[in-house]
Amino acid sequence: MEQSIWRKKPMSAYEADIKNNQLKKVLGKWSLTAIGIGGIIGGGIFVLTGTAAHYHAGPALALSFIVAGIGCVFAALCYSEFASMLPVEGSAYAYAYGTIGELFAWIIGWGLILEYAMGAMTVAVSWSGYFNKLLHLFGISIPANLTNDPFSYANMEGADGSFAFNLPAFIITWLVTWILVKGIKEARNTNNLIVILKSSAVVFVIIVGFFFINVDNWHPFIPEPELVKHADGSMKEAYGIKGILSGAAAIFFAYIGFDVVSTSAGEAINPKKDIPFAIIASLGICTVLYILVSLVLTGMLNYKDITGDALKAPVAYAFDQAGQPWAVFIITTAATVGLVSVMLVMMLGQTRVFLGMAKDGLLPDFFRQIHPSFQTPWKSTILVGFVVSLVASFTPIGVLSDMTSFGTLFAFAMVCLAVLILRQREPNRDRPFKTPMLMLIAPLGIITNVALMSLLDSKAQLFAFVWMGIGLVVYFLYSRSKSNLNDM
Ligand code: ALA
Repeated sequence: MEQSIWRKKPMSAYEADIKNNQLKKVLGKWSLTAIGIGGIIGGGIFVLTGTAAHYHAGPALALSFIVAGIGCVFAALCYSEFASMLPVEGSAYAYAYGTIGELFAWIIGWGLILEYAMGAMTVAVSWSGYFNKLLHLFGISIPANLTNDPFSYANMEGADGSFAFNLPAFIITWLVTWILVKGIKEARNTNNLIVILKSSAVVFVIIVGFFFINVDNWHPFIPEPELVKHADGSMKEAYGIKGILSGAAAIFFAYIGFDVVSTSAGEAINPKKDIPFAIIASLGICTVLYILVSLVLTGMLNYKDITGDALKAPVAYAFDQAGQPWAVFIITTAATVGLVSVMLVMMLGQTRVFLGMAKDGLLPDFFRQIHPSFQTPWKSTILVGFVVSLVASFTPIGVLSDMTSFGTLFAFAMVCLAVLILRQREPNRDRPFKTPMLMLIAPLGIITNVALMSLLDSKAQLFAFVWMGIGLVVYFLYSRSKSNLNDM
């Protein structure tokens, strides 16, 4: 086949991939749903809510969650249609390869590294922060040079020039890597357990917090737009309708994760039915929980008072203010344990996307080597663990959650586009799950997700574009000439 950037992977090649799958098929409907929830509920809901309420939406934070949730529902429906048709590991990358063309698919796969690997790095750093907080509650503290990357440490008060790295972030990454190499069953069981724990903690926040709501804090529900001072001294407009929308972009990170379900297609027992179910169920459950948490938080604290320390851990802070220190302990424990499953799911997703790309020849064979007894892509998992652990412990990456959101929103928009294209091109293909009102849902999905992308932090947008540029170079220097399609 000629080396056109628009060449597409034929559907027959997908069918061959599904037949030759060497992964262990152990994931049922509820384990897949738990993978979705495992990826979704993490630091986002416990941390970003404060910033989004104070700097963006005020009590209308719940509406920001609804807006971001709607954007995700559009994408989730489109993901579900694809996953039911093409139950292969590559997720958005694979869907684009069969519909839009190779270069686009490559760029999406490259963008997914932002979502999964960079997501895992960001979460490893947050985990270290929560772990420290938990130790503090027991009166234990680790020296600052062992809980911060060297750059952040050098700028800290009292830094004495000693060697610094983020030890907890490093250790947790290797623990997760070990679980993932060991086997998908081990990963599933660990994830299921953590999901039960963290979902209970979120329900706990909603029920207990309900009793501490002061309804006066909800008035006015959508405050009039005004200028608010940011940490860097700049004044930016907040609140009103615009505030609800920018709040939606700010908390979008909290929703990331449900799409990872689609990367587990190779390990699902009945992927055509169960993956659409799990994507929609995990997103639905978390959307309801998130809306309720945001109502409780803005009811417990006045959005104007969420400043300083309250911004770092607003949910825990709200319970502390309400005189319930034991609740702070429960929330901190849940967040610490809960973040482990976010990492687990993100790194699982990353290795499965690499597996899909390597099977197509766009990445070296290394990424598709399956361990003979564990039946996991072990070499790729160890490499991902290696990179995530180094970046998380040695670089100041904690603030780059917006880049993770960028990669995700990009993939979401592309999946909506790809599903639309394939409906036109192959209307009669068997679709066990069909997105209802696709002609409306897919364009709305594209518009919402692109709009949210444009509202992200501008520095993160710039970095993301540079990252995509590097991806183009790799494609033209390596992947294009190695693609399996060259031999077809
Ligand atoms: N949704 C995940 C979190 O909030 C990434 O941590």
